Parts: sequence; structure tokens; C-alpha cells
Amino acid sequence: MCGIVAYLGQREAYPILINGLKRLEYRGYDSAGVALMQNEAIVLHKCKGKVADLEELCRDKDVSSHLGIAHTRWATHGEPNDKNAHPHLSENGKLALIHNGIVENYLVLRKELVRRGYQLVSDTDTEVVVHLIEDIYKNEQVDLAEAVRLALVGVVGTYALAIISAENPNQLIVAKRGSPLLIGIGDNEYFIGSDGAPIVEYTKNVIYLQEGELAILSLGQDIVIKNSKNKAQRPYLEKLEISLEQLEKGNFEHYMLKEIFEQPNAIKDSMRGRINTRKDMVSLGGIIKYEEKMLNAKRFIIAACGTSWHAGLVGEYLFESLVRVPVEVEYASEFRYRNPIINEDDVLIVISQSGETADTLAAVELAKAKGATVIGICNVVGSTMARNTHAGSYTHAGPEIGVASTKAFSAQITVLSLMALNLAHKKGKIPLSQYHRLISDLEAIPDKIQEILMQNDYIKEIAKFVAQTSNAIYMGRGVNFPVALEGALKLKEISYIHAEGYPAAEMKHGPIALIDEAMPVIVLATEQETYEKVVSNIQEVRARKGKIISVVSKGDTLVKEMSDYAIEIPLTEELLTPLLSCVPLQLLAYHVALLRGCDVDKPRNLAKSVSVE
Ligand code: M6R
Repeated sequence: MCGIVAYLGQREAYPILINGLKRLEYRGYDSAGVALMQNEAIVLHKCKGKVADLEELCRDKDVSSHLGIAHTRWATHGEPNDKNAHPHLSENGKLALIHNGIVENYLVLRKELVRRGYQLVSDTDTEVVVHLIEDIYKNEQVDLAEAVRLALVGVVGTYALAIISAENPNQLIVAKRGSPLLIGIGDNEYFIGSDGAPIVEYTKNVIYLQEGELAILSLGQDIVIKNSKNKAQRPYLEKLEISLEQLEKGNFEHYMLKEIFEQPNAIKDSMRGRINTRKDMVSLGGIIKYEEKMLNAKRFIIAACGTSWHAGLVGEYLFESLVRVPVEVEYASEFRYRNPIINEDDVLIVISQSGETADTLAAVELAKAKGATVIGICNVVGSTMARNTHAGSYTHAGPEIGVASTKAFSAQITVLSLMALNLAHKKGKIPLSQYHRLISDLEAIPDKIQEILMQNDYIKEIAKFVAQTSNAIYMGRGVNFPVALEGALKLKEISYIHAEGYPAAEMKHGPIALIDEAMPVIVLATEQETYEKVVSNIQEVRARKGKIISVVSKGDTLVKEMSDYAIEIPLTEELLTPLLSCVPLQLLAYHVALLRGCDVDKPRNLAKSVSVE
């Protein structure tokens, strides 16, 4: 949610800021803005729309500056328009601020500021913060950094923010609570980003600001970091683990397509170093210290949101089939407010691509407070989830920029498969032959995905039919049921076609009423225990003239004959099928969205990382 970028140094700030905003645009794209320090005054440019609109706005303007802050917004408080776009200025125009997060007590603060005579011009929660800082700075005889700290003591909520002051034209102040903020350290220059994407081009040396910390960055001086109690903190320098190449689209038209095609490598990277050459041992280094807890767990709770929640549902099948321990899969957003029963011998597994999803992070804290062990599966190295869980395994899928999650999903399932195999083997729950077979099949998945990707053109043809409809149903059973949910989510989020996923047998309990000759029904009918049952479910749809698009196992003839279109996928162990069956559904959603003229990588109303509730 919202991207923040800032620069202080000897170079021209504007190109760095605009470039950074473009790299962060996946976090929000309904308005954008920049504040530049020019001759000890702050110049502001901001507008509704994408970063390209901001660039257009600035085209003929003087944008020379060596200090600036910039923002791309995903609206929470106040509609996306020019006045609500960040940065926000203080009343005297001498302070400018950008913010990612939510000021929960903004109404109380706003009322108080209005009472003191301040005129607020936007509908945002953010604007109160910059006025509050100005108020303290004017009245309390403190320096700017202390005014910022004192103001933030009064803020309830989350923030990553950056502030510049016309009175300190060589200083940048940043602070963080609940939303990520990185400081890139150059040669007497600083780069700020909500993540590493806008920084990596310039430096790999970064400081991840910790909860409640505030940093004072001044030209020619050492960085000063303080905690919320005003105690100096030692800066801890780390290396950014992303490369510029990973952030580029390369020869692909969209990030989403690139990321779908990256899946063979992403899965290989997820497995790398985790299966030994004799295939007799799977080990996940990141969780070794807590493996005993996992082996003795009485119950696994998996909490996540969106696509990661679907991966969690696949995890339920994997863990229950192989490890034979009960699993509950929870929407993190519901879990946190349900006063759930959590015991010390429970293990909570949280799954997140970004590692910044607010609800999932809240589930982490809740489970930790109740004494449970918390294991994270996340993609972004150094993310809040990676820091706040007891232990975890990175998915190593590489940066995922497209808002629709694709390679992160398959990498999450890969890690869940490895975890389940490791525990099942160590608990003696599966025969060695099955253990070896599953490992071999897992290792064969990348090549099999490659085969599916070769059907891209055929899937594009099928998309022509789906693109004309306004509804679609996805059906699957067993381990393919979560894939049906995921396929439906992919279609609706990027093509805006209403789509629902169902366990196939549930159709006749209601949804079958929706079937007519215009309804595409996408059926996952691969070789599995319930294959015959799925065949019956397909017959029921056909009897009502629904159009069948099936995903079948290579060599299938029965379902193929019953289908209007059939996509073949290679055979694999049933439990690993989601790693293959999800791929054609990702491609289908992509092509449908493209045919409908949708912005595939930046679908309306969405943002990549949902770091607010
Ligand atoms: O970063 P996370 O995996 O925690 O994100 C969870 C969801 O917001 C995310 O999966 C969302 O549903 C995607 N847009 C799906 O494509």
C-alpha cells in the first residue's frame, strides 16, 4: 500500500524519485506526487493518476533539486484526487511529508488542530501529522527531529514516513512503525524506499528501520537513529538481496506474464539446497531450530490472505495427507478478531508473498502472545514477517511485481510440500518409497511447467471465448479445489469478470442454477482419486448447456471429449497437481484481461502489498 521514495545527496533528486516511484507503483497507483527542495523552499507537484501523469505534470517545470520526497498512493482516507495526493504540506508551507500506513486517531487529532486554528485541505488521515509536527516545532522549542518524534508519540496507527523542512534544506527525517522503510546508504547520499526496488540501482547497502525508530539523515554527517523513547540506536547495515534485472520486464509485455514464465526457475530456486543429492533428506535450514516444535505440534494453523490463503488450503491437504496432524486454514483477517483458541503446542504457519500484509502480521503477534510457535513462509527477504516470526522459510521466487500473484503461489506450495515431506518422513508417517517418489516428482515439476507454458498460444485462443462473458465458474475437487478458487481470483482481479470457485460436488447445492449456454465452467479434471466424480459433475453442467473448459492430465480422452476446450498438463503425484494445474489458469486470466483491455499489472482498486487493515 503506497510507495514512498526519497533522496538526499549530490545528484539530481527528481529522476531518482520518478524512477523510484515507477518501481514502487505496484504498491498503489491512484495518485502520485513529489516535493523538492529548491533554494530553501519546498516546491510541490502532485496529481491524481499514475506516475506517468505526474511526469507529464512536471514536464516543463524546474525540477532541479538535491533533496526530495515522492509518493504513489493507494487511497484509504479520501478519494483519489489531486488534493488528497501526497506529499502534504504544513500550514506555513515549510514542511512536507509523505506517509504509508494509517493514522487511526486522525479524527481526534484533526479536531484538535482545527480548534487551534489549522486549516486542513485534504480528506486524508496523513495531513494531520504534518500539522502536528509544525505545531510542536513552533511551540515547544525543540529541533525538527524531536518535533517529529513527539508528534509520532501522539499518533495511533501505522506509518512509514519521510519529512523535509525548508529550514533544514540538507536534512531528511524518516520514521517507521508498522510499515516497511529502508534507508539505502551511498557515498554521502541517502535513498529511501518502501522496499529495495527504488534503491537497488544505486546501492546494496541498506538499513531496515526498526519499529518505532526515527532516522535523521544530514549531508556530511553520520546517520542518527533514535527509538521512540529518544535513545540513540546503532545503525545495522545489511545487503539488499535483489538485483536490478529481477525488477525489469525484460522481453515480456507485462510483469505478470514474465512471472508466470519464471515459474520453472522460481520453483527450482525454492527447492535449491533443500533436497540432498541422494534424495533421502529434505531440510529447510530456516526452521531447523523449531523443527522439534513442528514435529511435536498437536495442530497446525495456517493463516494468510488472498492467493497465499489458497496456497494455505493446498498446504492443508499436504500436511493432513502426509504428516497426519490436524490443520486449520484461516483468513488472517478473521482469525485475529475471533478470539481463537491457540495452545502452546500449536504451530501457526503464516504465508505471505510480501511479508507485509497487516492482517497476517497481526495473526503472528496474536499466536506469539498465546505461546504458540510461529513459522513464516514469505518471499521478501528482510520483510516484517521474516523478522517477527520465530523461524521460517523463504520462497526465493524473486521479486513479484505484477499485482496478481503467480510465481509466489507456486513457490509457496513448493515450500509447503518440502515442509510436509520433511515432517512426514521424520515422524515416520510415510513409507520411504512414497517419500522418494514425491521428492522426484517435485524435482520434475519445473520441466513439466515448461511443457504447459508451450500451450500459451492455445490458451490465448480459449481466452477469446471467456473474454466475451461476464461470469465464470471454476470447479475442482480435493487438492484442485484451492486451485479453482485461485483461478477464479486471478480472473476477477485482473479482467473484472465475475468468477467463483467451487468444490465441484457443491454445484448442485445451489450454484448450478447459474449455468446456461453463456456460462464458461473451468473444470480441473486431472487424474485424481475423485476423477470419476468430477466426470459426473461435468455431465451435470453439460446437461444445462454450460461450456466446459477443462484442465486434464496428458492422455485423457473421456473429459476431453466432453469439453469445448481441454488443456493437457503432464502427470504428477496427485498432491503436487496444484503446481501444474494453476499455470493454465494464470495464463487464461492473463489473456482474458489483455483482450478486455485491462491494465494487467495494475488492476483497478488493488495494490500489491496490503499493509493496512
Ligand atoms: O503479500 P501477501 O501474499 O500476504 O498478499 C496477500 C494477498 O493480498 C494477495 O495474495 C492478493 O490476493 C493478490 N492480489 C492475489 O493475486
